[in-house]
Amino acid sequence: MNVLLRRGEVTARPAGALALGILEGTTALTGAAAAVDRATRGAIRSLLKRGDFSGRFLESVVLYPRGLGAQRVILVGLGRARDLDPGRVRRAAGLAARRARELGAGTLVTVAHGAGPAYLKTGLDPARAAQATAEGSILGHYRFTSYKRDAGTPPLKRIEVLEKDAALARALTPAVERGARWAEAVCLARDLINTPGQDLVPERLAARAREIGRDRGARVEVLGVAQLERLGMGALLAVGRGSVHPPRLIVLDRPPRGTSGTRGRRAANVPTVVLIGKGVTFDTGGISLKPRENMHRMKYDMSGAAAVLGVFSALPDLDLPFRVVGIVPSAENMPGGRALKPGDVVRSMDGTTIEVTNTDAEGRLLLADALGYARRFAPVAVVDLATLTGAITLALGHLAAGLFTGDERLAAELGAAAEASGERIWRMPLWDDYAPEMRSDTADILNSAAREGGACLAAIFLKRFAGGMPWAHLDIASTAWAPVDRPHEPRGGTGYGVRLLLEWLSRRAEA
Ligand code: BES
Ligand code: MN
Ligand code: ZN
Repeated sequence: MNVLLRRGEVTARPAGALALGILEGTTALTGAAAAVDRATRGAIRSLLKRGDFSGRFLESVVLYPRGLGAQRVILVGLGRARDLDPGRVRRAAGLAARRARELGAGTLVTVAHGAGPAYLKTGLDPARAAQATAEGSILGHYRFTSYKRDAGTPPLKRIEVLEKDAALARALTPAVERGARWAEAVCLARDLINTPGQDLVPERLAARAREIGRDRGARVEVLGVAQLERLGMGALLAVGRGSVHPPRLIVLDRPPRGTSGTRGRRAANVPTVVLIGKGVTFDTGGISLKPRENMHRMKYDMSGAAAVLGVFSALPDLDLPFRVVGIVPSAENMPGGRALKPGDVVRSMDGTTIEVTNTDAEGRLLLADALGYARRFAPVAVVDLATLTGAITLALGHLAAGLFTGDERLAAELGAAAEASGERIWRMPLWDDYAPEMRSDTADILNSAAREGGACLAAIFLKRFAGGMPWAHLDIASTAWAPVDRPHEPRGGTGYGVRLLLEWLSRRAEA
């Protein structure tokens, strides 16, 4: 399905459905809504007059008027003008696209919600409104149907964002393209997350990374067990030991603009940003086995990895002046005759010995080695994304990921990117006072301690391995899986983090 901006008139354009956003409290229709109302001899006005539709946020109704190129009209409430922001535009567009798909509309025509004349009331930047419309349309339209014999109503073939003003159409085109590509990157991540663990073992995740690298211009290197042994990655190896599917370290490398990807031309002193994604393809807990309830959901334990791969799939659009390296430590956490046991001591790449008190705290083990590997790039920034703790969901619910960093610049940058992308983060403490709880009698550090403050303890564990690098950790266990349907997010893997990181990277490129 593709989304594109087209110059044209909404009343004339043939389509299975036409989606229009209506602000709450609308008395005089403007722009596209006014044009549609005229062409249908007052279909929208009479609806508003009877009070059958008020424009309340996410209210929706389907009309079948004559006089249009489209077969039906989906009206979506945008809520009050003063409350309209890109987040609301995204959700309204998502709802419209979902309804169009459910109706079997085939094609959908829409406008950039909140841009056009409504812009005067909302003050929304038209380009941001257009980007959010494109994003929301794709995100709300998404379904994971790979494993269904009957996939229900087929996907839409095309969504067109129409703008009749030539200059505005030209101005909004890049915004719609950007929104479409970013949302496609999110959908790529969602597909990976929703894929059952049986079909996405570490080697398969590596194969997908290689495909993305080949198609989107990144060098991809996959380290197997022998290489991990040579590097001394005892923590990652230990997590993977119980599985018949051996662990991998996947490294993606995208050169900055203006340089080729070949080894020889890789300038030694271009700044490098490192993105790390936890890639546990299934987390049973290992010998510290998880309870059976909801264990099936642990196929999502590679959501950090999925976000990193999603970002790399969209990097060709970004034209960055710095190099981006993605590091995905991947393993399947299984019990078994060879599996890591509680009480075992493992040695990470940087030489630290770790007493494993709980084999279910495996994410931080794999990340310890990924952070150790990151140091070789002397990065200007490192951000890791990991479905690390159940505790972060107890703290924040499903609305925000936990941000842990001691770096104020990174905190501010990520905060701004979260605001713009609508992918929320919430700053959590990274006080060194947490560290004593992780002291081991036997080794340098424990991998797990008290339940209280679990997300903070996990973060303080990671801090040790981040050394002096400018580093931020995002615990995305809370946001990577949507337990209930949302307008731009059907339940299941959300692809959280892709748009946040793309926003962050593109802003950093401008700074
Ligand atoms: N992948 C889980 C995190 C998780 C747990 C996400 C439950 C969603 C729901 C992680 O590997 C894990 O098991 N963490 C443990 C840590 C504990 C053993 C210190 C947890 O949160 O229970
Ligand atoms: Mn675990
Ligand atoms: Zn896990």
